[in-house]
Amino acid sequence: MRVRPRRARTFESSAEITPESTYLRRRELCRLLAAGPIAFALSCDRRATPDRPLSQVPADVLARFPPERSSRFIVDRPLTPSSVAATYNNYYEFTTDKERVAEVAAGFVTRPWRVEVSGLCARPQTFDVDALIRAMPMEERVYRFRCVEAWAMVVPWTGFPLAALLDRVEPNREARFVRFVSFPPRDDAPGMARQSHYPWPYHEALRLDEARHDLAMLATGIYGRPMPNQHGAPLRLVVPWKYGFKSIKGVQKIELTAERPRTFWNRLQPREYSFLANIDPDVPHPRWSQAKERMIDTGAEVPTRKYNGYDVAGLYS
Ligand code: MTE
Repeated sequence: MRVRPRRARTFESSAEITPESTYLRRRELCRLLAAGPIAFALSCDRRATPDRPLSQVPADVLARFPPERSSRFIVDRPLTPSSVAATYNNYYEFTTDKERVAEVAAGFVTRPWRVEVSGLCARPQTFDVDALIRAMPMEERVYRFRCVEAWAMVVPWTGFPLAALLDRVEPNREARFVRFVSFPPRDDAPGMARQSHYPWPYHEALRLDEARHDLAMLATGIYGRPMPNQHGAPLRLVVPWKYGFKSIKGVQKIELTAERPRTFWNRLQPREYSFLANIDPDVPHPRWSQAKERMIDTGAEVPTRKYNGYDVAGLYS
């Protein structure tokens, strides 16, 4: 059974912002009623087929899913049902309403998709995402995932170590950070225009040693299938010991830098979202405790574990 949070925690601290869900629902309803019963029926049909974006994936790439599940990443909690994870998302490029991201993002076009890897490296390159999926060492890893808003899930990601991609471009000695940039404003991501006060595109960064850690992953799929739009198709970062906002979706650019890059939420609200953003039950968010987390499927509240239970303390000694 799916249990909804009693009180939603959100990134945006202002209470004065008009709830976008109200605005969107009213707007969509007016549009559909004006267009007549056929448009309304088609809209209902779209909601009933959340996997439609997968039709953009070439057949030989689809055939690479699911890859073998790694036995190195054992999680002592049950997997979150895919239907729950796929309908409770943060992806502000589409909407701030977690339960509507899947629906609003359903028409997002993710092919062709190129990823530029550049900056302080010997061999900067631009990769087609499907060529990358064909070439990289793909595996499935079951990870805990913890949002700064205190909700949590356990999901099987498909992907490859970020370090494997960095190796291909041969970072220089001066490189100390890795910057990730998502896609610029576009019509099929309507949340970007609606929230034009945000510094789009979404951007994040890691220290190079964090990026090289074996746990840091570029994910191309989830639950054994290519990445659905709402989870960050076609390529997203997964850094399981950090709060979820570090795990940037829709990655188009990866850049090696000497200086620490600015990052989306840290730039907007530095007191609430640190650059490192390592999961820590003893460091409360200014507006709520981080001591516990709520599983999005059962609603069970469980103690938060430092670094989400991952053995990464060596990075910060
Ligand atoms: N990436 C982009 N481009 N835009 C976003 O709004 N939200 C982040 C992260 N990556 C976000 C993003 C946040 S706050 C979280 S918790 C996770 O995505 C949610 O991932 P999920 O929806 O796949 O569970």
